[in-house]
Amino acid sequence: MSWTRRKSNLKRVLVLFAHPAQRASSINVSMAKRVEQLDSVTLVDLYAEYPRFEVDIEREQARLLSHDVIVFQFPLFWYSTPALLKQWQDLVLEYGFAYGPKGKRLAGKRVMASVTTGGSANDYSLGGGNNRPFPDFLLPLRQTAELCGMIFLPPFVLHSANHIDTTDARMHIDAYPVLLEALASAQLDTSHLEGLSEITTRDVAEIMAGAAA
Ligand SMILES: Cc1cc2nc3c(=O)[nH]c(=O)nc-3n(C[C@H](O)[C@H](O)[C@H](O)COP(=O)(O)O)c2cc1C
Repeated sequence: MSWTRRKSNLKRVLVLFAHPAQRASSINVSMAKRVEQLDSVTLVDLYAEYPRFEVDIEREQARLLSHDVIVFQFPLFWYSTPALLKQWQDLVLEYGFAYGPKGKRLAGKRVMASVTTGGSANDYSLGGGNNRPFPDFLLPLRQTAELCGMIFLPPFVLHSANHIDTTDARMHIDAYPVLLEALASAQLDTSHLEGLSEITTRDVAEIMAGAAA
């Protein structure tokens, strides 16, 4: 099979990267740079494109339509997305396009959040500092995706992002392109993911091993 043919069989992955303080980033910028080079990935740095929050709705809707898998990549800020990603949702996911009786344009696409948190995995558990499992904090994003008929995959998460050592950071950065390439190819049946509440660095290796078996 030629490379051209393999490329044409790939699903297209759109990474919408939202980080307002990239000079202070120790992980997300490296993750974004790592996947930017992939053939199957379009990476959009939302804060670079829209520093004044004037999101181009038509351009963003066209981007959504031309991709199969949408990844929202962001650091968790106040248990939510950074503000520009919320602005993007508010403006781009219009009635009649993303939802409503005639708004089914995104139905069937897959959505994944790639999130880093300052809190630890233990903080995101019952009895921990935040007293709730981490996926609870993504409920608005999940419900939005599901209202639009999209399939919300478990999030790819790095907890304690400000406290991990360089080896763990490197492993997470390296796992990200592996995961996105798997989502883009037939290698990964997304039903493999359904039982997970979140996808960790280690899960990526296990998922890939399972997919290859
Ligand atoms: C304004 C702000 C709000 C934050 N809110 C949270 C939060 O609600 N929960 C949490 O676990 N971490 C929170 N953090 C920590 C960030 O999620 C963490 O610094 C980030 O994921 C690290 O990624 P980076 O190195 O790419 O910036 C917050 C950080 C900032 C600056």
